[in-house]
Amino acid sequence: MPMQRNTTEDDITAEALQRFAGTQDPRLRQIMLGLIRHLHDFVKEVELTEAEWFQAIGILTEAGRMCSDKRQEFILFSDTLGVSMVVDLLSHRKPDGATESTVFGPFHRLGAPELPAGGNIAHLDKTGTPTLVGGRVLDLDGKPIAGALLDVWQAQSSGLYDSQDENLTDLHMRGKFRTDADGRYLIRTVLPVNYPIPSDGPVGRMLRATGRHPWRPAHIHFVVSADGYEPVTTHIFDRTDEYLDSDAVFAVKDSLICDFARNARAGGEAARLGIEPPYYTTEFDFRLKAAEQGSTVLDAQRRLAALGARAAE
Ligand SMILES: [Fe+2]
Repeated sequence: MPMQRNTTEDDITAEALQRFAGTQDPRLRQIMLGLIRHLHDFVKEVELTEAEWFQAIGILTEAGRMCSDKRQEFILFSDTLGVSMVVDLLSHRKPDGATESTVFGPFHRLGAPELPAGGNIAHLDKTGTPTLVGGRVLDLDGKPIAGALLDVWQAQSSGLYDSQDENLTDLHMRGKFRTDADGRYLIRTVLPVNYPIPSDGPVGRMLRATGRHPWRPAHIHFVVSADGYEPVTTHIFDRTDEYLDSDAVFAVKDSLICDFARNARAGGEAARLGIEPPYYTTEFDFRLKAAEQGSTVLDAQRRLAALGARAAE
């Protein structure tokens, strides 16, 4: 006797849920059942047409084709849809005084050079305003953490990351810095600028079609890690930026906003490093919480690699 065929869209949903219900791994089962339920509900709610379905396949195909070691269109989709920040908030609720995290973004590259305190990550940038970013890495009791690693990356003053700049083949605006015995770090760079996320692909078309701008407020990226502490992936933002309230990727958190002070006279660290005024300075202390299980600087680097960042070499 022939089995009864599905006749309605709800029959198909029920059948799909049933097929996945036998998934052995409980977490995978939860994810797949949730995905089927929401995906089917979504399609039914908007009554997706065949033409729209085909367009969606085309968009995903194009996004996949655009991905390379220098371009990650899927992270851009996740970021601009707000999904990355929802995942961030679910994973990192930090009411405990630790530095808040924010999106990893698509522009990290492995292989940044280790630089001494005051090392210049912007040595090829001829148009930016010199800037010193300094501060400490502390534990939650305010005790300095010596030997913490700060993996730093930033857009050039042109608004382009090195990987987007056709004139560059080498890494630029990237460096790794270690804290000294007092937990202090010092980074020489240029003043961060706001920049539009890459909009020459399907993410850009989505933003234009929905009346959204592609701009991100000026920021510097950090992954800060130390042996025995939970690493944090975050940015610091410039308080004066016009896009703080409309970041294209929803990544701004109040606690990460900094004041960049303009200095008209030489002095202090800037003079020692041979920086001519005017230049900017800002201070930001990172606070790390102790890891529940052993966590090391190396673990943080491995985690970055697993997130899809590829070695530059
Ligand atoms: Fe960025």
